[in-house]
Parts: sequence; C-alpha cells; structure tokens
Amino acid sequence: MNEDADNRITNPRISAANSFEDICERRLTRRGFVKAGVLAGATVGTLQLAGCSDDAPEKLAQEENTWRQNNPYKSRYDFIEIEHGTDEHHHVAPDHDAKVLIRWGDPLFKNSPEFDPANQTGEAQKLQFGYNNDYIGYLGLEPKSGQDARALLCINHEYPIPGLMFPNYPKSGYQNVTAEQVAITQASVGNTIVEVGLENGEWQVNTNSSYNRRIQCLDTEIEVTGPAAGHPRMRTSLDRSGRNVIGTMNNCAGGMTPWGTYLSCEENFNYHFSGELDEKHLEAKNHQRYNVPSAYFAWGEHDHRFDIAKEPNEANRFGWVVEIDPLNPKSKPKKRTALGRFKHEGGETIVAPDGRLVVYMGDDQQFEYLYKFVSRDKVDLENPRANKDVLDHGTLYVAKFYDEGYLEWLPLVHENGPLQTQFDSQAEVLIEVRRAADLLGATPMDRPEDVVPNDVNGKVYVMLTNNSKRTAANNANPRTENYFGHIIELTELDNDFASTKGYWDILVKCGNPAIASHAADWNPNTSENGWFASPDNAVVDPSGRLWVSSDQGGKAFMSGTSDGLWALETEGDLRGTGKMFFRAPKGAELCGPIFSDDGESLFVAVQHPGDDGKPGAVRVETAATQWPDFSDGMPPRPSIMAIRKQGGGAVG
Ligand code: FEO
Ligand code: CA
Repeated sequence: MNEDADNRITNPRISAANSFEDICERRLTRRGFVKAGVLAGATVGTLQLAGCSDDAPEKLAQEENTWRQNNPYKSRYDFIEIEHGTDEHHHVAPDHDAKVLIRWGDPLFKNSPEFDPANQTGEAQKLQFGYNNDYIGYLGLEPKSGQDARALLCINHEYPIPGLMFPNYPKSGYQNVTAEQVAITQASVGNTIVEVGLENGEWQVNTNSSYNRRIQCLDTEIEVTGPAAGHPRMRTSLDRSGRNVIGTMNNCAGGMTPWGTYLSCEENFNYHFSGELDEKHLEAKNHQRYNVPSAYFAWGEHDHRFDIAKEPNEANRFGWVVEIDPLNPKSKPKKRTALGRFKHEGGETIVAPDGRLVVYMGDDQQFEYLYKFVSRDKVDLENPRANKDVLDHGTLYVAKFYDEGYLEWLPLVHENGPLQTQFDSQAEVLIEVRRAADLLGATPMDRPEDVVPNDVNGKVYVMLTNNSKRTAANNANPRTENYFGHIIELTELDNDFASTKGYWDILVKCGNPAIASHAADWNPNTSENGWFASPDNAVVDPSGRLWVSSDQGGKAFMSGTSDGLWALETEGDLRGTGKMFFRAPKGAELCGPIFSDDGESLFVAVQHPGDDGKPGAVRVETAATQWPDFSDGMPPRPSIMAIRKQGGGAVG
C-alpha cells in the first residue's frame, strides 16, 4: 500500500510539517527528476539503460560478462540481470519462466462461479481468489502421485480499489460506493489458502482441494485471544463478549510459524472507517493516533460496524496479527492481541537459542516504530498442536536506536515506568501500543515494512521504505526528505534473537547512486540496474540469500523505473550490491516473494497492476496496463506468479 494514501503523521512526538512536504513536492518536480535520470543513465556505469530486457537476451548476456570481468568478486547469485524501465508487462531474468498461477476472481472451489467483472457479487467473490494479493506463505505438503511438489499457499489480500475493480466506476470517487460494492470489496480482502501442485515443471491450482479456503471481511468469524480479549474497549453492540470479530482486512505482509500456521497482519485498517466521534469521547484520542477514520473506502455508509459514531469500539478490533491454521480449514482464525495493535506490515518468526519464539514486526506509517514479540513458552517442534497458545503469552518490545550503533528493545509491559500510571491494564497497553511506545521513548522510523530474520547468518533485515516528511535525521534514519528508503541490518546481542540489546548497521541507502541528490549508498559493484527505491517486502531463500521487493507507490516517477525484485548481497566484498531479477508491470508493486522449500520455485504477488495515479483517481478504462489478460471488458488483475529456472535448479 503506498504512502500517498495515508500521509497524515499521527505521532504527536513529531513536529513535522505538512508545509515542509509541500515545499518538497514543489522542488521535486517530475520533469526535474526524469531529466536528471536520463542524464545520469547516459554517462555513468557499464550497463546502459536501454529498452525492454526481453528484447535482447544475447546483448544482456554479453554486457553481464563484461560486467563480471570488471568485477572480480564472486556473486552469490547466478542470473543475468534485467534492466530498469517501465512498461505494461512483467520481465524476469533470462533463463527463467514467470507464469501467472492465479488471478483475482479465479475459482477456488468446484462450485465457484466464473469471474464476470460486469456482474460481480459479494457471494461470488467469497468463492473466488481475492483482490490485491500481498504476502505469500508456503507450506510444503507430501506430493501426490505424478507431482514433483505440493504445497498450500497462504495469501493475503490487502485492500480493494473500486475504480480498478468495477468497470465504468463513477469519476467522483469512493464516496458513491453502493451496498453491493461494499459487500464485494469486503469479500475481496482477507486471505486465501489454496493447494498447488507441481507437475511437468508447472505449478497448478487444485480447485478440488479440501484445504482451499477464503477468509474475508464480509462474514468470516474470527476469535480474539490474548490479554485484550474480552476487554470492554473490545466490545460492540453486535459482540458483547469482545471476543468475536467479523473479518480481517488490510492484510499486508505476514509470516509462517515453525508449527505450520500462518500469520496475517492487519495494516491500514483505518481506511475503512468513517463517521465522527465527539472529541471528548474516550476513544477520540486513540482513534486520532491511528488515523481513524480515514473514510477512504466508506464501508461505514452501508455497514454500521465501520461508522465510528455508531460503533466507536469496532476500530479497536482491527490492527492485529491473525493466526490461521491452513491445515485445519474449519478452524477459527485468531487475532493474537499479545502482539499489539498497530499498522502491522509483517510478522516473520524465528526460534531463539533457548527455544522461545521471536516475531519481528514493523508499524508502517511515517515516524512509527519497530517491534518484536518474544514468547513466554518454548516452541515444541515435535508436536505442532502443543504451540496453540504460544502467541498468547510473552513480551512485546519496541526498538530504541542509539546513534552509536546499538539498540535496546523496550518492554511494553504495564509495570514498565510511565505505562503503569497511563494505562489501567496490559490489555489497554496493547490496544494503544503506539501511545505506550511514545511514552517509553522508542525511535520514530522511516516507515518500517518487512523485518526478516536470516537463520543462516543470524542477522535481521529491516526494510524502511521511505519518509518524505523527515526533517531531522539521526544515524538510523540518516536522510531528511527520505524519498527512497534504506535497509538496516540488526545483530542481536550474543546472536540471541530474544535478546533485549543489539547492534545495527545500514546495509544500503536506496535510490539511484548516479544522481547526487538521491544521496544513495550502494556497493560500487552495483550496476545501473542493481539499485532500487522503497524496499517493502523481503525474503531469505533456503541458502541464506536476501531478496528485496519494492513499492514506490505514486512516486515511481522519481526513480523512473517500475517496482520489482532484486537480489541483495549481504556478505563479503560484494555486501550492499543489488541485482535486478524481476520487473512488475506498470503501476504494480511487487509483494510476497517466497521460495519453495527446495529453492527451485519462487512465488511473487503482483499487486494493483495499472494503478500509477493518485489514490482514488485510477479507473479500469484508463489504467496504465490491462495486465495480465489484456482483453476487452477484463480489468487489470492482481495475480500470483510462479517463477522457475528453465531446465530446473535453484532460482537465481
Ligand atoms: Fe501494505 Fe506497508 O505495505
Ligand atoms: Ca507492504
């Protein structure tokens, strides 16, 4: 989800300045950046910006060889880099195939209706693949006869875009949404569990699988667990218990647990709330801190749950991490309140040396914080069912970065300092985690997105996507007007992921190193295509190599290239060298990179293809691409792609 859609700073500790943003916007005009990019591309580096990479693989191979001869360090990646650029299609490194596996609207069940964009209904959408695919989890299963591999893919559907979902959508915006459109969009978000199998080198969806499942925001019941479950501020007129929520939404990134469950993270939940609350209301300041209401999609017009004047507590029931058991299709998903309420980007897990579970999480808004949860109990890897309550007990920490290169993890527990007097209970600390983190003096960051532990080298990688409103730099957020983002590498003390202290270092400052005003910092071996802007999702492959995908939002014009996936060296002389592997079609961000257990397949999520305009302005008829169908009457469709190396072997 791009920054433009939610650019109000809600952290009261930041005296930043919308007016400063306005000044920046005026200075950084589209024309100025395009001109600078063209000049730099013509004069710097060994690889030149040219046309589409698919046009001339031989030329690319030749250039790659020249580049390698001039760069003697041994790369850990073995593919030919593609080129920056922007067009209506996707592009993958030569010698690899990228195939569309499943698209928005595709059937998931034997009784799913065929997708009919002109006659959509909420009931049909509940049986079809959802919209705006984001995180992908991979859970390997024993292959069936004739298959080389079999898995469940656990997929988030982040948010609807009515203008791109409904042909001939009114020009006046989302406020005119109809009741049926609300139902369709509520059914289009949440999650899909889908079984896939690899046969003859190609992944295919199994619509007969009993594992297939849709979890959505129209009518899926979800249980609330952990310290905030049942608290009066979690109760509504429809749910007097405070323990049963209808649905999940804005499911952005996520993670898989070592016991095979799927964590789906609720991010910009504020978008779906509308209405007004008296400023003296108990929840008024809380809602303000989370940007509620944003009324971006106006669900409250037709569903009173999302009108804060009618249901002031409903917004407290979103912004959590949801645990789903993909192997048990009848199980109720659980909102795990011990992990705190904020705009969760991801929830990647790793087991600490003493056996406890650690979950790393970012709160994706300008000047928000980095968090981790450490479980009270040890993980039982022999008996998955024994871990059913692990995520209900433990300590949530928030990070404080020191300029000298170390960090502290501050415990968000009710007994800790000012939290004792400012909150009545641990439940309230968790409902208003942002305010609790403010009081402890956590470090406001440049929009923390994915936070990915690497169990091969023991490090943790933090994607900080950008923060155009930063006016005061510090060493961990080193650029003011940070339009391009950076990546921090954490080393926990004693290599213990559960430690409350650690060290940090900046791996790369993103942006184009050939343009001085970007103030980017990459390994000089990075080619003209190896740099990227706005890191968002990341994954460590089975051999410990890091891959990063990007989301520039409405600011792709500043870099002059579409979003995509890059390999990023983390070790040795090449540390900080990027290499471009995949480019998304125009207007799309690239999400969810995940590898199969053997590293021979890579799945990526192409989200919101065609949406390269201002939020709310884009329409089916004027979209920047009609990918992947390119057929009359069919809107551009967010889709999952499966990537394999030709002839087999590890991807990349
Ligand atoms: Fe939904 Fe932070 O991206
Ligand atoms: Ca994201």
